[in-house]
Amino acid sequence: MNFGLTEEQQMVKDQVTKFAEARIKPIAAELDKTHRHPEEICRALGEMGIMGVSIPTEYGGAGMDTVTYVHAMIAISKACASCGVIVSVNNSLYGFPIDSFGTEAQKKKFLPPVAGGKVEGCYALTEAGAGSDAGALACRATLKGDKYVLNGVKRFITNGNVARYCVLACTTDPAQGYKGVINLIVDLKNTKGFSVGKIEEKMGILASGTAELVFEDAEVPAENLLGKVGQGFKQMLMGLDCGRIGIGSQALGIGRAALEDALQYSKERVQFGKPISTFQAVQFKLADMATELDAAELLLLKAAWMEDNHMDYEKESAMAKMYASDVAMKAAIEGVQIFGGYGYCKEYPAERHMRDAKICQIYEGTNEIQRMVIARKLLGAR
Ligand code: CAA
Repeated sequence: MNFGLTEEQQMVKDQVTKFAEARIKPIAAELDKTHRHPEEICRALGEMGIMGVSIPTEYGGAGMDTVTYVHAMIAISKACASCGVIVSVNNSLYGFPIDSFGTEAQKKKFLPPVAGGKVEGCYALTEAGAGSDAGALACRATLKGDKYVLNGVKRFITNGNVARYCVLACTTDPAQGYKGVINLIVDLKNTKGFSVGKIEEKMGILASGTAELVFEDAEVPAENLLGKVGQGFKQMLMGLDCGRIGIGSQALGIGRAALEDALQYSKERVQFGKPISTFQAVQFKLADMATELDAAELLLLKAAWMEDNHMDYEKESAMAKMYASDVAMKAAIEGVQIFGGYGYCKEYPAERHMRDAKICQIYEGTNEIQRMVIARKLLGAR
């Protein structure tokens, strides 16, 4: 068993870590306060290939593997969880399905701008009535000649307020359930009948926009269909398998930030004449946080390695996402506890880590759905 990184993986990890420490971490509190889209960070990460880590270089990506993606996501999310999710969506939810299921022409047209970091992409799946039950879509695509006409509203779409391109999950016929689901690539800025609806006010990841996408008789060329009619639901679930590695890595980055901050603070904060790090009550918290976060990293790297080696990693990505987000949430809560009253105030980032960690247990499939996916695999029910 080899736990080491290749020279190339280590180089990208070091480069992203350095960038995240120098350029992202110093503005994370400001991004959280202003809810500003981190435009300049996205452009710079794009130039480094990080908006399409595993996308082949001929389509504007870095041509690296999923293990590298995990390390890049952890480093970015440790500095700023909002930046982390923007990167994850571009890579996994937008880039992966086009790279995996797109035609050569679709890849050439729709990957380079996003993977190269010139513009953002998004994946629009969730609707008011279709969350965990992802096959229950109502957003309808009706084929008319050489165009699909779209009608419906998407909710909670990460990057939806800023994205130029979208992979849109919709249905050709709701009566067919998941068998009617298709994925269409939509140029949001050049589609009449499309508008951005409500922008959500959230608890955390405040610099990552979460928007409604509204389609009213919006026309999309039929040639923008990914694969064939009837394949959309499986494409979606395969994209989510990949995306869960991204979100698990985001969660781990947040957990690592919570641990690092609490560790530092515990050495500085003096009570009863001693740094609080000398008290066993604090030490045990730190020990548990570090152990659980390391375990999460192993799960993430295993899932990533399996994806890189073309193995079935559905269960492993669900395990990694579920466990990483659960222990990140726990670490963030314990981090606030170690900071005490200061942890509850905005003077320190501890409370931001707690707000940011929570969403990782919810999006990219709730952790209840992850447990369902894992159990079905264990029981041979899928
Ligand atoms: N890969 C490929 N195919 C799969 C699959 C997978 N991982 N999982 C299931 N399938 C196939 C099944 O084999 C089946 O195919 P056949 O009919 O040919 O046998 C078909 O898909 C239907 O499968 P199920 O009956 O298992 O489908 P289901 O309705 O029970 O749903 C589910 C499965 C796992 C619950 C799925 O709906 C799910 O993952 N829900 C959660 C949705 C989700 O993750 N949303 C996240 C939104 S995006 C987001 O949050 C991003 C963000 O903001 C950052």
